[in-house]
Amino acid sequence: MDGFPSDFVWGTATAAYQIEGAVTEDGRGPSIWDTFSHTPGKISDGSTGDIADDHYHRYSGDVSIMADLGMNAYRFSIGWPRIFPTGSGQLNPPGVEFYRRLAEACLELGITPYATLYHWDLPQPLEDAGGWLNRDTAERFRDYAAATQEALGDLITNWITLNEPWCSAFLGYATGVHAPGKTVGVASMEAVHHLLLGHGLAVQAMREGPGGTLGITLNLSSVRPASESAADQEAARRMDGLANRLFLDPVLLGSYPDDVLANAGATGWFEQRADDLEVIASPLDFMGVNYYTRHTVVGPEDGVFPGPTIAGPGGTAGIRTIDTGAPRTHMGWEVHPDGLIDVVRLVFDRAPELPIYITENGAAYPDEVTAHGTVEDEDRRHFYELHLDAARQAIEQGVQLRGYFAWSLLDNFEWAFGYSRRFGIVYVNYETQQRIVKRSGHWFRDRLQGSTRGASASSS
Ligand code: FCB
Repeated sequence: MDGFPSDFVWGTATAAYQIEGAVTEDGRGPSIWDTFSHTPGKISDGSTGDIADDHYHRYSGDVSIMADLGMNAYRFSIGWPRIFPTGSGQLNPPGVEFYRRLAEACLELGITPYATLYHWDLPQPLEDAGGWLNRDTAERFRDYAAATQEALGDLITNWITLNEPWCSAFLGYATGVHAPGKTVGVASMEAVHHLLLGHGLAVQAMREGPGGTLGITLNLSSVRPASESAADQEAARRMDGLANRLFLDPVLLGSYPDDVLANAGATGWFEQRADDLEVIASPLDFMGVNYYTRHTVVGPEDGVFPGPTIAGPGGTAGIRTIDTGAPRTHMGWEVHPDGLIDVVRLVFDRAPELPIYITENGAAYPDEVTAHGTVEDEDRRHFYELHLDAARQAIEQGVQLRGYFAWSLLDNFEWAFGYSRRFGIVYVNYETQQRIVKRSGHWFRDRLQGSTRGASASSS
């Protein structure tokens, strides 16, 4: 791809529950997303991930599509309940076998696997024992991570511990719009801590294992105040705190930001866990960053922030994101390519040498198949063009950006939105499971073919 280093990593990203289906096959146990999606009223279109993209059976064709697009990497997630159906105890060999077949299929076509260990599908029995509010879950995660690396480490060498712990903690335990749908308020900070502790414990355990490069994926936000008023500036500081610093600082610097803990009303509890920070800050080989949008925020008119600033039902107390009039995607997310530079710089400022991968970036638009059987997603193609241009600029500024994964390969189960939001560069007909490469996918292929992959990976 023009303007990028020749060894740049190009891939697409997916997550197990969003694409695999086959939820009861080969010994898989239930996860919190099975329970949540089957609870009436939780998913906007009433759907579940029971079948999704049927990728569990169609993975080989899907990997071929990636190769045809010229991709040299694939970020997928491993379903914890496929490896340990109840979260711990006996390993489930058929679950391991599925990911071995998937990784082999990738490697055969010159595609390097990047595996995420936790993309939100906590085994239900662990949630029944308290989920991420229970410190024990961090230890179960370490055991699962170590066992999975042991079983797959000859094929997979790039590992991402957690995907977006902000979402797991705050959408899962504060607003409740994601599984497990709890609304425990400030106590969701305990989920933050246990997720990060699980990450650190997993990194330590995996360093003892077959080796490889280890990282974590954070969803970072580009935040700016709507005006220079004190209330808006304070709103931006608080939002940047909860969205970015609460995760970046412990992982990269070994400390929680005091102001964030104070604003959240979580000071006492966190102080007692200070020893854990050394584990949480275990050295990493890379940082994964997911970037989607920018938030322009306003504070309360009277400047008084109500109660603890925590993402409770209804959002982050006293803070509102305003509509700037910029174009928006089908998610309602503002398109703001320069925000990608803002968020990678948040990592760069703390750890200038640490390699960074954009592990997700993409856009939902309401695609339709034309009479000619094509999908002309010009909006999405343009979104990618603008964001890749921003990525190129970040590299020029000295940021150690090593790769980019488009979200997503396929249209899929978009969590609380079910199948009503399409993010793929490949269209999926959910009735027939037919795949159609969209215009955005062809655009990637035109730019990547020949430049990223060896002869074995040429288009068939
Ligand atoms: C991210 C998730 C991913 C997908 C995109 C749109 O927050 O990691 O699974 O849902 O948003």
